[in-house]
Amino acid sequence: SDPSFAPSNVPSVPTIRKKLMGYVGFANLPNQVHRKSVRKGFQFTAMVVGESGLGKSTLVNTLFNTTLYPPKVPLAPSEERPKTVAIESIGADIDENGVRLHLTVVDTPGFGDFVNNDDSWRPIVENIESRFDSYLEQENRVNRSKIVDNRIHACLYFIQPTGHSLKQLDIEVMRRLHTKVNLIPIIAKADTLTDEEVLQFKQRVLSDIAYHNIQIFQAPTYENEDEETIAEAEEIASKIPFAVVGSDQPIQTPDGRIVRGRVYPWGVVEVDNEDHCDFVKLRQMLVRTYMEELREYTNDVLYENWRTEKLLSMGVLQDSSVFKEINPAARLQEERVMHEAKLAKMEAEMKMVFSQKVQEKESKLKQSEEELYARHKDMKDTLEKQRNDLEDKKRRLESGRPLTPEKGSTQRKKGFLRST
Ligand code: GTP
Repeated sequence: SDPSFAPSNVPSVPTIRKKLMGYVGFANLPNQVHRKSVRKGFQFTAMVVGESGLGKSTLVNTLFNTTLYPPKVPLAPSEERPKTVAIESIGADIDENGVRLHLTVVDTPGFGDFVNNDDSWRPIVENIESRFDSYLEQENRVNRSKIVDNRIHACLYFIQPTGHSLKQLDIEVMRRLHTKVNLIPIIAKADTLTDEEVLQFKQRVLSDIAYHNIQIFQAPTYENEDEETIAEAEEIASKIPFAVVGSDQPIQTPDGRIVRGRVYPWGVVEVDNEDHCDFVKLRQMLVRTYMEELREYTNDVLYENWRTEKLLSMGVLQDSSVFKEINPAARLQEERVMHEAKLAKMEAEMKMVFSQKVQEKESKLKQSEEELYARHKDMKDTLEKQRNDLEDKKRRLESGRPLTPEKGSTQRKKGFLRST
């Protein structure tokens, strides 16, 4: 057992390897999973990004055999092919041998037409992140049984077939995208380059990608894989970046076959011919072999990283807090505890103010008591003195001794005269 998966309060169970005495039936588990997923169907969303006029819309039509876009009205020679001006999503339910796939293609407006293309990546990144946001919001709902996965599972990045190296604009856009989507670089309109030019251009693009630490989708390899699967993965990997040709028009070859391709004075370029371009390998990677890997990597790595960053930026620090963010009961409990703590704090503050006021009153009372006592003592002393004086006078009068007049006192003088 792996201790890293066991919660701290659950004791780990020792694992013993045992041989089966007979057939139990869990070997049928993969079939159960297969049946269930066929019943549920699959969702897949691909995005196309690149400069204007590189054949993005055409390739989408080619990839999914024009079932996504309605057939286009043939254009008059004077007419300009319409440009994609906003991010458009086209969805289709496809059924192949009983397996249902809900496919969505997100076509983005081509960039590179403006004097300043610095922010070309912004609406694309915003679109990718808003899909992550919507997924996170669905995860946080009380009922999570009907989550719709609209996240971008693969992003086909179209590179202009210049034959030189990657443009600064491509590097900038790819650097903004590579941590948020599975990037699949594509050399567009490969029919405009010779075979040798294609090979050299691929090398330059790959070295630019490596130099700028741009992460592109790599087919994963697993242990104990059979030779055929390994060879297929190696062949697909050897074609990256895929040099593709797009065409949604069926044409007739000189030998009479109807194919999808482009006609030139010197011959025909066939889209589905592996000797002519990498279209078949691209489709194999995107649909036949690695669709599930693309979905898994999006969920387990790209979305997970974005989610962690998002929650951290919202101030959620630990897993327990993440739990509270997601669990409404835990959040209510936390709110209740916080409310009680607030009430207790208010009560303590009120008690403090009250005792302060009582203390002030007490010290004032004590002060006035002391003042009263001092005044009382003064009066008592004065009265005592007066009493002593009077008693002294009385004694003198009784003994017949003359009273000693105080200086300047006429009354005393009179009294003295009378007694003499
Ligand atoms: P925006 O919507 O402006 O971003 O353009 P886009 O990238 O979607 O290009 P679109 O598919 O509209 O194609 C532009 C032009 O290129 C059309 O005339 C297509 O016929 C042509 N085109 C498309 N794919 C290829 C290709 O593989 N090779 C060549 N030579 N031309 C192509």
